[in-house]
Amino acid sequence: MIMLKQIENIVKEKTKSVKSIAHGFGHLKRTAMGARWFVVRVNGSKKEQDLAYIAGLIHDLYRPLTEKIDHTESSVKDARNLLLELNVDRDVINMVLELIKVHRKPSEKSIFKQSVYLADKIFEQMGAYVTFRVCAYVGECKDYLNVPPMEVIKRYFEMRINRISKSDFPKKLSGLVNYQWKWLMEYASALNKEEKWAICIAKTAYENGRTHKLSLENMIKNFKPKSKKGIEYKKEALDYINGKKFNRFELLIP
Ligand SMILES: [Fe+2]
Ligand SMILES: [Fe+2]
Repeated sequence: MIMLKQIENIVKEKTKSVKSIAHGFGHLKRTAMGARWFVVRVNGSKKEQDLAYIAGLIHDLYRPLTEKIDHTESSVKDARNLLLELNVDRDVINMVLELIKVHRKPSEKSIFKQSVYLADKIFEQMGAYVTFRVCAYVGECKDYLNVPPMEVIKRYFEMRINRISKSDFPKKLSGLVNYQWKWLMEYASALNKEEKWAICIAKTAYENGRTHKLSLENMIKNFKPKSKKGIEYKKEALDYINGKKFNRFELLIP
């Protein structure tokens, strides 16, 4: 018996004082839901669905505000300790940790084993929502405190686009990846062209990343777009956050 609700409540409590708003409870819960969604799409068993959900919930328990430390090992350690404290069965712990271990890198593994990686990358690091998330993260990340914001945001998007290769993902997900990727590319290009709507998202999200005035989700809800593109990005991001995109995503997978 896996205690999903109990784990979720503990994670919620633990993340109340989280250092990074880009990696708060919202990120963990959505990664959990996304990971489970991928497992359901390939007809994974109920146990696999639960394992993916748990792994998503605890995949970033340790997430320092810097890119200079690889958080994979420490996240695995924190996740192991949490599951041991709850007396979760050894085989369950091992399987959950396996999903967390590979959550940052592409692999040839099954959709189930890649589920946290896929949810983290395709849903949380692409799509309209990521424009807000990245700019907030740059604002809060210690590495960029003394660099001009717009410069570093542009560089960060370039780096993100270069780092993720569409061919890293299973072929059958290419429709979904293309859909999510399109937002990322359009936004990065608009930023490079200094388009007002893109700068408006960047400044609002960056500022909130700096001050932590609102959660990432509330910042997007309160965002006041002044253009058609801004309205489109806000709507798409909110629909994703509110779980309304999954019907559309389903249609993108054969
Ligand atoms: Fe992570
Ligand atoms: Fe993550």
